[in-house]
Amino acid sequence: MNKVGPSVLAADFRNLASEVKKAKRAGADFLHIDIMDGNFVPNISIGPDIVTKINRACDLPIHAHLMISNPESFIEAFSSAGSDIISFHIEAVKYDIEKSKRIIRAIKRLGKRPAIAINPLTPLKRIISLLKYVDWVLVMSVNPGFGGQKFMESVLPKIKSLRKIYKKDIEIDGGINNKNAKFVVNAGANILAAGTYVFKAKNMSQAIRCLKYA
Ligand code: DX5
Ligand code: ZN
Repeated sequence: MNKVGPSVLAADFRNLASEVKKAKRAGADFLHIDIMDGNFVPNISIGPDIVTKINRACDLPIHAHLMISNPESFIEAFSSAGSDIISFHIEAVKYDIEKSKRIIRAIKRLGKRPAIAINPLTPLKRIISLLKYVDWVLVMSVNPGFGGQKFMESVLPKIKSLRKIYKKDIEIDGGINNKNAKFVVNAGANILAAGTYVFKAKNMSQAIRCLKYA
């Protein structure tokens, strides 16, 4: 069975606490929370204080997906806010492998699970040497910055190639729905982040079930 992390960006922010509780009741395995800084991506979303509030409202594990230019400066804040998995972008550290290793070590020292995130147009070779240090890779299937974008099929070969050499968790993020979930799962993803499809669904439990059994 696949794991599903509803992307909170698509939730009704006026009722965040009840939205995340609802996601838990509907069978979510974790919450995917998008952190945007208006610099690495052209949008601003939420900071550590809101993550703390979400964490108090709901006991699901939290994946903080950092789409920020200086992830190293915010690891501690998002860790204290209650994140369990913290991902940062290889593009955000300008493909610097040594810096990435330092960030991964810092996340581990805080007792959290590090993950490396990669944009649709970034070749897999940029993260190959990091794979032995992380047990979770986040593959983007849209250019990060906004929810509700169209899934990019062009990432399927990348997931396939990654799965051939990587036995651990592969999460896919961006435009995921009941139609394309089976393709990403066949390609090798075992964790699905989905915002619009889950939070805007008429029946959230059913939407999550569709993704779990894709
Ligand atoms: C995009 C975010 C995604 C997004 C997913 O920058 O990283 O997590 O919220 O939302 P949907 O599923 O609507 O594409
Ligand atoms: Zn995300």
